[in-house]
Amino acid sequence: MIHNHPNVPEKYKELVDIAKSMTKKSYAPYSKFNVGAAVLLSDGTIVTGANQENAAYGECICAERVALLYATANYPDKKPAALAVAASVNGSFTKNCVSPCGSCRQVIVEMENRFNCNIEVVMYGTDQVSVAMSGADLLPLGFSDNHLKK
Ligand code: THU
Repeated sequence: MIHNHPNVPEKYKELVDIAKSMTKKSYAPYSKFNVGAAVLLSDGTIVTGANQENAAYGECICAERVALLYATANYPDKKPAALAVAASVNGSFTKNCVSPCGSCRQVIVEMENRFNCNIEVVMYGTDQVSVAMSGADLLPLGFSDNHLKK
């Protein structure tokens, strides 16, 4: 299920504020699209990330994956519960909410399967905030370990 809100729901305010502040740490000299992400773990720990670009454009890594993979690398026993993402261009947050790319969706769904949980994805924009109750809602028919079986 995906819900659209005009403002950030109270429950996600802190996480979204952290994702917004992380846009300042983005390394995006090529796209100049500064993205920040924050992951809330089940015990309340918050882990952050920002997009990391490369002159070899294909090696750019999204803020969501930086945050999510840092989270599981450092806290392999803690379930991720929510992910917030925000982006700014020339110092202003985008009007449209930031929607994770297909690769990030695939990584979110892998984590939901690994931890047997759902990860709420909070996509911030100044005009609209969209909240997906699970990564799987953003990736219908996504590839998973089930598809590796004969
Ligand atoms: N990017 C993210 O970090 N997250 C998204 O959800 C969309 C795209 C980054 C990748 C690249 O550094 C820049 O934004 C432009 O695509």
